[in-house]
Amino acid sequence: MKILVTGGAGFIGSHTCVELLNSGYEIVIADNFSNSKPEVLNRLTAITRKPFDFCEADIRDRVAMDAIFDRFDIGAVIHFAGLKSVGESVEKPLEYYSHNLNATFTLCESMEKHRVGCLIFSSSATVYGSPDTAPVREDFPLGPTTNPYGETKLMQERILRDLESAGVLDSVYLLRYFNPIGAHESGLIGEDPNGIPNNLLPYISKVSVGKLPYLSVYGNDYPTPDGSGIRDYIHVVDLARAHVAALRCALKKKGTHVYNIGTGRGYSVFEIIAAYEKATGRKVPYVVTDRRPGDVAVSYSDPSLAEKELGWKAEYGIERMCVDADRWQTKNPDGYETIKDKFFQY
Ligand code: NAD
Ligand code: UD1
Repeated sequence: MKILVTGGAGFIGSHTCVELLNSGYEIVIADNFSNSKPEVLNRLTAITRKPFDFCEADIRDRVAMDAIFDRFDIGAVIHFAGLKSVGESVEKPLEYYSHNLNATFTLCESMEKHRVGCLIFSSSATVYGSPDTAPVREDFPLGPTTNPYGETKLMQERILRDLESAGVLDSVYLLRYFNPIGAHESGLIGEDPNGIPNNLLPYISKVSVGKLPYLSVYGNDYPTPDGSGIRDYIHVVDLARAHVAALRCALKKKGTHVYNIGTGRGYSVFEIIAAYEKATGRKVPYVVTDRRPGDVAVSYSDPSLAEKELGWKAEYGIERMCVDADRWQTKNPDGYETIKDKFFQY
């Protein structure tokens, strides 16, 4: 039995593939490299020294998906593939609704045809909209979401629940990620955003090594102790391990199950700047600007359900997240393109 990992060449997918391979699972990665690079596959081999299958395919391509299910004995699917930029989704809502929903429709049609009933889905804390209080529990009200990307996550959750209720799928595990950051300790895989990053940690990493001049802190007048926004940052390797834990349960326990995947601890933007400076010994210049539209003051998880039912708990603290993010950044100043310089040694 193999595990199909859609979007397995991406940031979270690649780290999950490492943990799956190291836990003894056989995997098939399907990715179209729309937001990743083929080089990541070499890096997965370098880290794990284990074989895996790869299919260059668009998840929205039904013929390609059927061919994958025909060729391999797939026992479960971890579905990462999709578009994920909040800002871009506001500019191109049709593209986001079409891409993300059609990918899930096509995947589920192919799963139904091939009688594969076990699915783990990448959801997001964004489905909670602007929660009134923190920590956020899984039974908090959902929405209204603040952008089309978030709405596609909420819609996909709903669709997958309905498919499980109707018996099209047997096990649906919806993992609501908080703020994944960091990188594998090898420095071989990490987050490689196209262009100027939107999210805090990739931006700080680039400022820290001088690739960007300064960080804009979006608001210091929130009702938080230092006035900046508070989030639940989670090491991507901890997040990857949550998928292995969810997979183990999903293969045994049917039904729809929803879990927050976070640390349960919130850090402000100023605390993150300080942690990054401490971890690297380099200053992170910043200026305070207006709030970013749509941002909430405080968002952090109550992850206790995942600990109770999946037996999973985040292990790494903020210092380790910063050290690992910096190792990836400094070893790969141009992300996966760095290999072209031929300076990179495995
Ligand atoms: P990513 O863009 O790095 O990875 C997604 C991968 O999917 C990429 O390799 C991309 O090439 C591939 N892909 C996209 N559309 C595809 C398609 N139609 N067919 C085949 N491959 C396709 O993103 P990520 O940060 O690793 O996120 C993975 C998942 O987790 C996404 O669904 C995202 O919405 C969700 N998520 C991410 C975060 C975050 O902060 N990174 C937070 C919450 C949820
Ligand atoms: C973002 C997404 C959210 C997604 C989440 C998962 C947006 C608006 N939301 O959330 O849908 O689920 O990632 O990772 O993109 N900040 C700065 N300066 C910057 C960048 C960010 O001060 O240059 C601040 C933000 O105001 C926020 C914090 O840093 O307080 C974290 O921001 P970010 O990394 O973008 O994540 P989220 O906004 O939490």
